[in-house]
Amino acid sequence: MRKMRGHGWRRADCCLHLEAACLPATRTNRTVMPAKAGMTLAIGSASNSPTPWTFVRQNRRVHTLPSAPMTHWQGLEIISRGANRICVRDPGDPTLCLKFELPPAERTRVGPRQTLRRWLARVLPSLGENATELRAYRRLRTRLGDGMAGRLATCHDLSVRTQGTALRCDCVLREDGSVAQSLYHHLFVDPRYPAVALCAAVDSFESWLLQNDIPLFDLNAGNFVVLEQPDRTLRLVCVDAKSVLSGKEILPFSRWSTRLMRRKIERRAERLRMRIRAALDPAGSLQ
Ligand SMILES: Nc1ncnc2c1ncn2[C@@H]1O[C@H](COP(=O)(O)OP(=O)(O)OP(=O)(O)O)[C@@H](O)[C@H]1O
Ligand SMILES: [Mg+2]
Repeated sequence: MRKMRGHGWRRADCCLHLEAACLPATRTNRTVMPAKAGMTLAIGSASNSPTPWTFVRQNRRVHTLPSAPMTHWQGLEIISRGANRICVRDPGDPTLCLKFELPPAERTRVGPRQTLRRWLARVLPSLGENATELRAYRRLRTRLGDGMAGRLATCHDLSVRTQGTALRCDCVLREDGSVAQSLYHHLFVDPRYPAVALCAAVDSFESWLLQNDIPLFDLNAGNFVVLEQPDRTLRLVCVDAKSVLSGKEILPFSRWSTRLMRRKIERRAERLRMRIRAALDPAGSLQ
């Protein structure tokens, strides 16, 4: 057990990330959702427990979740969900996935600026996550061509389905055909790689961003999936390119100045490495 940084949740038997959780959109779940995606929640009972999961905060039970994570959403097989979208397999093609923007009530709570952005996106769909990610991907594709291979999941188009409009992307798959898990999953749900190997994968991704001057700043663990390479090293594939075009700053200096952009990429990559070490090697990360 240990205290989680920045909030009062403690790690109990297992941890859950919004992007891995696939929680049903009930009022109960919204009540316990944290303010930010990527925040770790403590769960008081094991994931295979027949009893409902209970959140524990400073030894007080605060809420209960259903015991089984959802596997399907509107009849589609869920891969994972982020703060804004749910990612499902394309029923017509297992090599593809579909990302649907969630209705407001099912998204995580955010600050006023992002709330405003979400509201604008409802009025102007071209500002939504899917349209923004597709634009960002296409812009990079035009600039880098095959130089993007293996670094960013391919985005194809916006596809109208009965469930809504989805962003159709290549699903990042492992050698055995299973869906690659997010870095978040490898940190908090099923850790199987050492921090040093994952940090080396971050180094490599960071070098690629710097070499190509790519302003991809949202280097959070839910935006990457992890692939094992034939030589046993790990590679990160980014599955969310929207931060190339959309950021949280009011005055985006780091997009106007290459020097500031590089410094920001370095800071964000270092923060990600620190999070990896803190999750997998807490003793080492304090030295
Ligand atoms: N192309 C893909 N291949 C495999 N898995 C994917 C792919 N795209 C997304 N995922 C899975 O879905 C999760 C959420 O995806 P994504 O980051 O696009 O959602 P989001 O709503 O933008 O999240 P956030 O706003 O929190 O960044 C990822 O962590 C990953 O597990
Ligand atoms: Mg994302």
